[in-house]
Amino acid sequence: MQDLVRIFDTTLRDGEQSPGATMTSTEKLDVARALARLRVDVIEAGFPAASPDDLAAVRAIAEQVGCAPAPGSGLTEPPIICGLARAAKGDIDKAWEAVSAAKRPRIHTFLATSELHMLHKLRMSRAEVLARVTEMVAYARSLCADVEFSPEDAGRSDPAFLYEVLEAAIKSGATTLNIPDTVGYTTPAEFGALIAGIKANVPGIENAIISVHCHDDLGLATANTLAGIAAGARQAEVTINGIGERAGNSSLEEVVMALHTRAPLFAVGTRIDTTQLTRLSKLVSSVTGMAVQANKAVVGANAFAHESGIHQDGLLKHQATYEIMKPETVGASHTALVLGKHSGRAALAVRLTALGYTLDNAAVDRVFARFKTVADRRKHITDADLEALVQDGLPEIGEAYALDALHVGCGTMGMPTATVRLRSKEGDIRVQASVGTGPVDAAYKAVDAIVDARASLLEYSVRSVTEGIDALGHVTVRVRDQRGRVFHGSGADPDIIVASVQAYLRALNRITATLQTQGDRDAAHAV
Ligand code: KIV
Ligand code: ZN
Repeated sequence: MQDLVRIFDTTLRDGEQSPGATMTSTEKLDVARALARLRVDVIEAGFPAASPDDLAAVRAIAEQVGCAPAPGSGLTEPPIICGLARAAKGDIDKAWEAVSAAKRPRIHTFLATSELHMLHKLRMSRAEVLARVTEMVAYARSLCADVEFSPEDAGRSDPAFLYEVLEAAIKSGATTLNIPDTVGYTTPAEFGALIAGIKANVPGIENAIISVHCHDDLGLATANTLAGIAAGARQAEVTINGIGERAGNSSLEEVVMALHTRAPLFAVGTRIDTTQLTRLSKLVSSVTGMAVQANKAVVGANAFAHESGIHQDGLLKHQATYEIMKPETVGASHTALVLGKHSGRAALAVRLTALGYTLDNAAVDRVFARFKTVADRRKHITDADLEALVQDGLPEIGEAYALDALHVGCGTMGMPTATVRLRSKEGDIRVQASVGTGPVDAAYKAVDAIVDARASLLEYSVRSVTEGIDALGHVTVRVRDQRGRVFHGSGADPDIIVASVQAYLRALNRITATLQTQGDRDAAHAV
């Protein structure tokens, strides 16, 4: 039987630490459900000590995703639900409080072991670090049978000290030892040698699973992860689309498809249902507002596009000439025409279920209302359109303002103008007109005059969901609030000015909601 590499997904923890990628609890639950259907082995659902909201979101995932196998996944067990904790009792207690409702809970605790981190960040000696790891891993183990320990910045730690710390963690009850290249500094040869050294030199390592966690600062995260697996690691910590701190983490889809496509070389397998990869990529891109570059491996829009005549000719003669993976293996089949303006709510609900969404009646109603408006203007609604509408229809956190009506005037004569009517959550209607350099600018100025969020627009992007002049426009914006924090919002509509205002309002609503509920989150996210 093929050896198994466990896929530990940290999109909801390390991925969420990407600037502006903050997700609402509902979005986190949606991503967690989709990850369970993808058949990941472990979901790192968050960092419960970061804020009461984070704790509640991890607990909801433990209760709703971690108690039974995902419907249709073909698995008999739910995924392990993991919570991150610094090596401190308070953090470990909160992680346990958050994950204990899961059928298979895990506490993941960490402490840095590089000289640089111990000296400047922790201000602790080697002996103190060793003692803290021994004590805190034992404490976590007294609560939970499944404990993971990470020596942060392992990639730049003295290997001899690292072996000592890992031995102590095993003796204290750690069942998984995760080796992070926290700052993405190592090369594949170095990282592979580090894992081989750990395997050869740490007493008791045969009783634990070695895991790898690589960052992409030098663009080597996937290569390092694969080198670690080749050297004996049997868990890979990854994120969808490779999102994460700074340049991000190793990307789930790249690691999984490398192991899958080059199976004879690696001789290890995963449980992942690869046909879900494209869908997960779109979902995560949509809820985090982080676009996937067109040439991104495996899930980029161009990953299976062939432009040159020579390549197209070769492909027509034999698919394997220029494709090492089939688009259908990663779920990138081409847009099927599915529904039109005469389709009813039942047909829509059936199609949404087939696409893997589990929406309650209120959510189906919301998507159906949006579907009808779009179908009136567009002949066919494709799966890609539906996915955009579902994301668009997800309830927003504390939606302070919603778009009620919009009128713009623009062209080559006169100033671009916009009149915007917004409805507050209390039901008040506010109207404002503005001029701007273009219709979007005018509309945003009108919104600014109503919503007192004092944010600056950092990024605005628009793309079409499918081909054609009547395609849905999908707009993503990133804004910075007065405290320097970055928020995103997205909107989809055949009218790109409407989509633009929806996206902007969503980002501003996130600022307002965060001001109300997450004041302490930043400090804790400085992990
Ligand atoms: O990159 C890192 O070191 C981490 C640890 C908390 C595992 O994310
Ligand atoms: Zn990390």
